[in-house]
Amino acid sequence: MARLRTLALVAAGAFALLLGACGDDSPPPDAPVEDLVRGREAHVYYARSCSTCHGPQREGRSAPPLTPAVLTEEPAYYEAAIALGRPGTAMPGWGAQAVNGGLSPREVVRLVEWLLETPAR
Ligand code: HEC
Repeated sequence: MARLRTLALVAAGAFALLLGACGDDSPPPDAPVEDLVRGREAHVYYARSCSTCHGPQREGRSAPPLTPAVLTEEPAYYEAAIALGRPGTAMPGWGAQAVNGGLSPREVVRLVEWLLETPAR
């Protein structure tokens, strides 16, 4: 009996692992590596790290909106904001130099590409 229960638990655990692996967090297998941010698609990374302040649809919340319509500066301007943060504001730095960051320059570029290219839903 105890053995059966153990088996059932192991099976449930394996199933949960399988489900976890198939979550919509994982990028499509053919996603080019230069399109990923910390191994995730840009929108997944955004949802996890940026949406609390900038809003789930990038519509703005405690932080300004990040939709193509309002992002009228050159990409480098936004890359700097993301990599270095905005000292004195709530905007943290996400670049490789930042304590709480770790995004490579390429990952920062990708995030900005995504922000500038993807219309708000
Ligand atoms: C803790 C809140 C917070 C989080 C999390 C956050 N931001 Fe910000 N962000 C801000 C605030 C506040 C500003 C406005 C700063 C200012 O007044 O210059 C800002 C500004 C920006 C700007 C500059 C916008 C402009 O028009 O000048 C960009 C780009 C940006 N954030 C991108 C991101 C990205 C990408 C992420 C996730 C990796 C992120 N932010 C996460 C609070 C946040």
